[in-house]
Amino acid sequence: MKNYVLVTGGAGYIGSHTCVALAAAGYTPLILDNLCNSSAKVLDRLATISGAAPRLIEGDVRDRALLDRVFAQEPVQAVIHFAGLKAVGDSVVDPLLYYDNNVNGSLVLAAAMRAAGVRTLIFSSSATVYGEPDESPIPESAPTRPANPYGRSKLMVEECLGDLYRSEPGWRIALLRYFNPVGAHESGLIGEHPQGKPNNLMPFVSQVAVGTRPELVVHGGDYPTPDGTGVRDYVHVMDLAEGHVAALRHALAQPQALLTVNLGTGRGCSVLEVVQAFERASGRPVPRTIGPRRPGDVPAYWGDPAAAAEVLGWQARRTLDQMCADSWRWQSGNPEGY
Ligand code: NAD
Ligand code: UD1
Repeated sequence: MKNYVLVTGGAGYIGSHTCVALAAAGYTPLILDNLCNSSAKVLDRLATISGAAPRLIEGDVRDRALLDRVFAQEPVQAVIHFAGLKAVGDSVVDPLLYYDNNVNGSLVLAAAMRAAGVRTLIFSSSATVYGEPDESPIPESAPTRPANPYGRSKLMVEECLGDLYRSEPGWRIALLRYFNPVGAHESGLIGEHPQGKPNNLMPFVSQVAVGTRPELVVHGGDYPTPDGTGVRDYVHVMDLAEGHVAALRHALAQPQALLTVNLGTGRGCSVLEVVQAFERASGRPVPRTIGPRRPGDVPAYWGDPAAAAEVLGWQARRTLDQMCADSWRWQSGNPEGY
């Protein structure tokens, strides 16, 4: 009986929440992670939430010999591949590091899967593959034109996996394009723990609310949006986690499949809406100033979630207020992270 779901990068932000959703759906996650951007302490928290900690294999997804051993020794029915690097700015500074980790890592993993006869793969892609879209909501058929090495690494992997699917029968591959994942598990025991100064809005706002940082700089107040600030499709990380379970269940039920699916809410929220919701959720003020636009930022975009609903039977359920309340529970209970 093949019973593990191998979760690469499963100690990280989205991976750890997906382990919770997998366990709740009756799957057994097995984590492979080199802990370059996460902590093994997450395992105790997962044990508290799910009743048992997933096993962790500490290692690198680019290590073919390790992957061959894992597939030879463990009964793995499918892989969810989160392991990768995700800082856009770093990818511009060191593109080779990003292509090695994200593209090469995915190719080594896919080759090991092929050799082992494991052909079900759920891949973490990103809405960043759309670049600056012509229109919102963005359907999966929109043109792809990523604007930085990180985004290109995601698109390259999508293309490689599409070619692999077409090269031989039996592959079940889901390419999941996430919009902006935020929030934390409702328990407040696991959440996002960025190293150093956060680049993304929600962790920055929560650090301002908890008092670690003095104020938020809003990157631009003169965009052509209702309140002049940037608009994004924020999706609760537990909704996203459940989207992976839906994709896995769907893939496992097909003889073969190649799916490209947006995971978002279909609704755009502005920076100021997020800040105000966070103030309501935390009961704390979030001091802010309006600064210049951040280079490379798109004014507004949000996803079309129709395909996810139709094909996977999944839709995001949690509101912006829940995203902020859960982020706050995690941040205020764990001001130093894990
Ligand atoms: P994260 O950094 O919290 O998790 C990634 C995990 O992968 C970490 O635990 C890290 O230690 C591990 N890892 C990295 N390189 C590895 C390697 N070579 N071998 C083994 N483990 C490795 O990031 P996250 O936010 O959970 O993102 C997960 C995935 O989703 C990434 O592929 C990311 O690009 C993608 N994604 C994230 C977002 C987002 O906003 N968080 C948006 C779209 C897509
Ligand atoms: C960024 C990445 C994208 C990645 C996504 C993950 C860039 C250019 N894009 O997208 O590739 O997939 O994160 O969620 O980095 N903002 C502020 N002040 C801050 C931080 C952010 O005003 O201190 C604003 C931004 O200008 C933007 C919004 O908040 O309008 C969201 O920003 P962020 O969380 O960084 O996400 P994205 O820019 O959408």
